[in-house]
Amino acid sequence: MKIIALSCSPSRGRNSDTMLDSFIDGMKTIPNIKVEKIYLEDIYIENYKYQNSKGPTEKEEDFKLLTDKISKDTDGLVIATPTYNFSVPAYLKNFIDRIRFIALDLTKKNKLDQLVGLLGHLKMYFLVSGGTPNWAEHILFFTFPPFWLRGVFLYFGAKVIGASYSGDVHTFNNKKILKKCFNKGVKYAHIVATGKDQGILENIFWRPPQIKE
Ligand SMILES: Cc1cc2nc3c(=O)[nH]c(=O)nc-3n(C[C@H](O)[C@H](O)[C@H](O)COP(=O)(O)O)c2cc1C
Repeated sequence: MKIIALSCSPSRGRNSDTMLDSFIDGMKTIPNIKVEKIYLEDIYIENYKYQNSKGPTEKEEDFKLLTDKISKDTDGLVIATPTYNFSVPAYLKNFIDRIRFIALDLTKKNKLDQLVGLLGHLKMYFLVSGGTPNWAEHILFFTFPPFWLRGVFLYFGAKVIGASYSGDVHTFNNKKILKKCFNKGVKYAHIVATGKDQGILENIFWRPPQIKE
């Protein structure tokens, strides 16, 4: 079972990156789980435009490798990101915009005239850091990245296993939160390894009916 762990903060060794490291340590306790950690910043990805919408350009070799892996050879994708202006860093947003060609079947529409998701083989988990305290994020959850990321990847057809948010700006030093991330990593990798499905919460999340093959 292969899992890609994508670290999407420009600040290495800080909050979301450290959450991801603890999550990876947890995943590694499960047998037969292979984790590859990638810093999204290291991958050259041009901004989305119609001309590059069908796939990576010649200059985007690493992006091609990554999208090939995600579309064919990966069972799980973990995204760790900070909250930037109620959203995610621009290059993570651009990455998500650019992967349309592996994420959606652009030739098919479902009953509601929506594109059909292609990432049904992927189990997702999101780790999100922010400056807003957890209690406020709980109330305003719909304005924070975990909500949006869940929605996008459900639209892409992926299975969303869960998301964790930390509002402590010193998360990298917070043993309690990091231990929680470790435990979540164990649980997530177990779900990937055993082929269990997404949780109840994700199943009741509305999503457009998909075409049955
Ligand atoms: C440009 C910028 C925008 C930010 N916007 C938000 C925001 O909208 N909401 C929030 O809760 N925190 C916001 N923050 C705080 C970061 O999300 C927070 O410091 C986070 O822990 C950084 O994570 P990192 O260490 O993984 O990069 C912002 C920080 C920066 C630099």
